[in-house]
Amino acid sequence: MTDHDNSMEKLICEQAVNSFADATDARYKQIMQSLVRHLHAFVSEVELTEQEWFEGIRFLTETGHKCDGQVRQEFILLSDTLGVSMLVDAINHRHSATATETTVFGPFYIEGMPERAFGENMAFTPGEAALVRGRVVDTQGNALDGAVLDVWQTAENGKYSGQDTEQPFGNLRGRYRTDADGCFAIRTIVPVCYPIPTDGPVGWMLKAANRHPWRPAHLHFMIEAPGYRKLVTHLFNHDDPYLASDAVFGVKQSLQVIYEDRTSHDDLSARLGMPLPFKRACYEFVMEAA
Ligand code: BEZ
Ligand code: FE
Repeated sequence: MTDHDNSMEKLICEQAVNSFADATDARYKQIMQSLVRHLHAFVSEVELTEQEWFEGIRFLTETGHKCDGQVRQEFILLSDTLGVSMLVDAINHRHSATATETTVFGPFYIEGMPERAFGENMAFTPGEAALVRGRVVDTQGNALDGAVLDVWQTAENGKYSGQDTEQPFGNLRGRYRTDADGCFAIRTIVPVCYPIPTDGPVGWMLKAANRHPWRPAHLHFMIEAPGYRKLVTHLFNHDDPYLASDAVFGVKQSLQVIYEDRTSHDDLSARLGMPLPFKRACYEFVMEAA
């Protein structure tokens, strides 16, 4: 730090903070005054030049321009790649030790995807056949009947349907329901690792930082059951090379699953007519009471 008189900087900060003093909503006032304080502290700490300030404005402007109101949300991507999304997740899920851990929602969820029967195939594009099965239970281990699992993953080309307009409607997406024993089954393909979009400001940021854009292979879940907290999470392939360097910091040890080789049928895979060989992953989701 240079040894200059920074009384002017302090005065500007104070004025900006005080300008929110009369806000009607107390929480809004708290957030805005804290934001202004931290923003000013940051600008003072790095002694931002006018050109750097302008670059920052340009970066945020382009981030907004990249959003299309549907599939592409560059601000969420920015939040994800800065670790802010996972921080918000951590703060808001200081939950019981027994409930399934949560992770980032991501920008590629699409509402209203088809309801699928127990074990129905959601993969209409090629890949390694997989059966993902398990149960949804409460923290006491009681089965949750009728829990809805909204599931989504990329195709083998690393793109989500919706993002990639070549893919059939609803490809690798669907809503599954648990049966009376809390069981669910999803016929799909083994998830693959994929790069997050890099053709926008987030891509420039990663490149400048010499960061890679890859996410380890995962299957997204949003699970809802009446009376329970909505659970947003992933299941990660346990052997993925990017587990230790996820571009959005979303990996948790407890969310890793093994896709085991199956060369013969079990009762369920026979009933569902799974092709042989296939991979099988099993997981028990634990929901926390609302
Ligand atoms: C995803 O897993 O879909 C995702 C999450 C954060 C940023 C980009 C993609
Ligand atoms: Fe994803």
